[in-house]
Amino acid sequence: MSFVVAIDGPAGTGKGTIAKLIAQELNLVNIDTGAMYRSITLEAIRQGINSIEEKEKLIEIAKNIKIEMTNNNGEQEIFLNGENVSKEIRSTEVSGFVSQVSSIPEIRELMVNLQRKMAEGRDVIMEGRDITTVVFPNANVKIYLDADVAERAKRRYKENKEKGMQATFEETLEAMKKRDHNDMHKPVGALKIAEDAIVVDTTNMTIDEVKEKVKEIITKC
Ligand code: DC
Repeated sequence: MSFVVAIDGPAGTGKGTIAKLIAQELNLVNIDTGAMYRSITLEAIRQGINSIEEKEKLIEIAKNIKIEMTNNNGEQEIFLNGENVSKEIRSTEVSGFVSQVSSIPEIRELMVNLQRKMAEGRDVIMEGRDITTVVFPNANVKIYLDADVAERAKRRYKENKEKGMQATFEETLEAMKKRDHNDMHKPVGALKIAEDAIVVDTTNMTIDEVKEKVKEIITKC
């Protein structure tokens, strides 16, 4: 039997950072499911596919690529057909297309099955958009991380600037609003708050405060 901590929430709430820190402290395997949708998107872009119109080709890619994750003390690396793509999957190009790719129901079904398999017999902390609702509706712990969209855009803008990316705050905010809309209006696996999830609003919290709060929720379960 495995122990599953499921975390959902919109982009920029700190899910990835929190999951990584907690995985290290509580000795859980960290599974970032967004990285899986990003890997499919990267492969599609590399094959010259950048429109949702080519749905069948996108499904073929998802069926045929090999996605693997390694976990070293909470630090996750992602391999696409054997190549380490941990950095490439975070590019602006991938971020701009991934929510469309992840809206294809056939691709979601493939990924959900893979995510369930990855958790088999392991104690995991898995984060994404549909983990508490679709992948593991019976998870031991279900958390929804939220934050005001302007605050999330501020965090993403700061991160991007540190990475040398050019986008302005206004562009970052617009991209964030667009992604929220896409993530919340997918026909399958849309981002929503599970009835029994514990909601943590991180708008006015530091990463350390969020980490302590989430740890407290997990250890109380
Ligand atoms: O968490 P992220 O920004 O790396 O996720 C990338 C995209 O993948 C995001 O637009 C939503 C989508 N996604 C999803 O639909 N379901 C998941 N479980 C995880 C991510």
